[in-house]
Amino acid sequence: MNMPKVLFVSSEIAPYAKTGGLADVGSSLPKALKSEGVDVISVMPLYSSVNRAGYGLTEVFQSSCVHMGNCEEWYSVYKASLSGVDTYFIEFSKYFDRPGIYHTKAGEYADNAYRFAFFCRAAMQLAKDIRFKPDVIHCNDWQTGLIPYYIRKAEDFFFNGTKTVMTIHNIGYQGIYGADVLEYARIDRADFHAESFESFGGVNFLKGGIAYADKITTVSPSYAKEIQDEVGGGGLHMLLSYRRYDLEGILNGIDTDEWNPATDKYIPQNFSAETLHLKKVNKLALQERFILEKNENIALFGFVGRFAGQKGLHLLQYAVEKALKDMVCQFVIIGSGETEYEQYFGSLPARYPLRAGSFIGYSEEAAHLLEAGADFFVMPSLYEPCGLNQMYSLAYGTLPVVRATGGLDDTVKNYNEQTGEGTGFKFQLIDGDALYNTIGWAVSTYYDRPRHIEQMRMAAISEDFGWKNSAIRYINLYKNVTAL
Ligand code: ADP
Ligand code: GLC
Repeated sequence: MNMPKVLFVSSEIAPYAKTGGLADVGSSLPKALKSEGVDVISVMPLYSSVNRAGYGLTEVFQSSCVHMGNCEEWYSVYKASLSGVDTYFIEFSKYFDRPGIYHTKAGEYADNAYRFAFFCRAAMQLAKDIRFKPDVIHCNDWQTGLIPYYIRKAEDFFFNGTKTVMTIHNIGYQGIYGADVLEYARIDRADFHAESFESFGGVNFLKGGIAYADKITTVSPSYAKEIQDEVGGGGLHMLLSYRRYDLEGILNGIDTDEWNPATDKYIPQNFSAETLHLKKVNKLALQERFILEKNENIALFGFVGRFAGQKGLHLLQYAVEKALKDMVCQFVIIGSGETEYEQYFGSLPARYPLRAGSFIGYSEEAAHLLEAGADFFVMPSLYEPCGLNQMYSLAYGTLPVVRATGGLDDTVKNYNEQTGEGTGFKFQLIDGDALYNTIGWAVSTYYDRPRHIEQMRMAAISEDFGWKNSAIRYINLYKNVTAL
């Protein structure tokens, strides 16, 4: 059977550089494709934050060149390999030798349109330089949005027959910039119109990506429907419903080498479905680490994530405050982002000693401990294309409390009080009290129906959220689009 050659392009790939779930998918999907026999390589920018020595990056080309506007940009290419997948890095200090990936505390970099237009060109040039003729270029989010256009317009024989797949990880980030980038990006003025990149006079990278890609995917079946609707489409619902026959929702998987309670190297006590009773050792460690009352019989809720509007932080703030006043429970919050929430959650432990803990910042280790040790994981997202944390939670027998949206709705099964079936607790309304009441529902189940909690934990930990099924769906999509 013929397997496609795939160039996977992403602005983030874990562990090299990560701001969110895109990076997790950027590493785990190519790895899963590779294990199914796909010839896949990936490419990303070489940010100065990437630990070159730690990941063993080696130089591949000292000088490669792309034409941008009427100038030549000269850059270098590096390479590293992890879990059998080769990742190529575009090193160009003018754009990537900076403290942040997209922004600093002061705001977004003013030249992001230029940075990622260049990256799109350089990713394609890489394929030529290493003579990797891709059947498919798999693009991810707005940072790669110009590639489908470049491929459509390519006069170059090298990309004859190459098809593009554009994956939308989050329609809330479209990459909309001033039209001044057109010349540098070499987008023909004739192609700058409402059916392609143009959006209220600006250049919309994601819109152009969707318009020119051969196939479009997003990261859960429910989100694929939501983005065709005015409420969830971020202004692109018309274009997306126009392209609905080329749009597919494929649920993300999780990397079970990284997120597996039986082998997790970050947690003090490994456990599995057979030894689920050992989970409480991690709960006690989590309580100790966050200076909470060490008591395995108090309902413990956790949150890990970006402090961004999308994540429903105002609902969380409201409900946590009320729950800590009214209920016998504990909270641990890990995250960083918007200052208002950093201040609020940062000061929570001082206001509720022994009952609330927080870490403002990024910590892989603390996130693993929380997933392993908490009883419940709260994700009140306003929208959630897929969401990985609720799947990590399920894999650790930690029950998610989620708003029924996007991938959260697709992956969590609501609790049935009569039978004890389900894997979590869901609510519908974007409303602080709806979340508060659902936390209350989880708390009362915890104290009043502990056997149901055990049953749900067992159901959650026994589910399979690995990549295999979804990787096969991507492979079928690649084959379908290339007629391999
Ligand atoms: P999103 O991509 O919208 O941020 P996801 O749920 O898909 O949401 O993925 C978030 C990823 O980022 C997860 O791997 C999560 O553990 C991680 N993460 C987010 N914030 C933090 C943090 N402060 N510390 C550790 N991990 C974090
Ligand atoms: C985005 C989404 C998140 C998704 C991730 C990976 O950041 O917000 O829901 O899981 O991409 O696809």
